[in-house]
Amino acid sequence: MDELLAAALQVRENAFAPYSNFRVGAALEDESGRVHTGCNVENSTYGLTVCAERVAVFKAISEGARRFRRIAVAAGAATPTPPCGACRQILWEFCGDIEVVLVNLKGETKSYRMSELFPRPFDDSFLR
Ligand code: THU
Repeated sequence: MDELLAAALQVRENAFAPYSNFRVGAALEDESGRVHTGCNVENSTYGLTVCAERVAVFKAISEGARRFRRIAVAAGAATPTPPCGACRQILWEFCGDIEVVLVNLKGETKSYRMSELFPRPFDDSFLR
């Protein structure tokens, strides 16, 4: 299996998801080939939960990475699970039109571009 998908499946094991029991892993590849991983981290207030994708992006940014090639997202649902709306906004901000590969526990995959998942985004172009 593609190493990026394997990394997303592996980090999913670290998910802190006692409230939803829905575990998610993400693996973000930067331009140098380095992989930044993240899992969902839930909170008893529910609303402070952070998704796997945002954990991966923020970890990468805080390590100094700035350009990215693709992200893999692993979850246990029958249908490969796409990023939520909040994560799409964050992914667009930092990663632009990258490839998003979704994988489930059966190894079934679906691949999209961010521009398919998040058409007509709000971004910094409106602030100029
Ligand atoms: N979740 C993610 O981590 N990524 C997604 O793309 C969808 C949802 C998490 C948030 C929460 O911990 C759990 O999955 C159920 O919504």
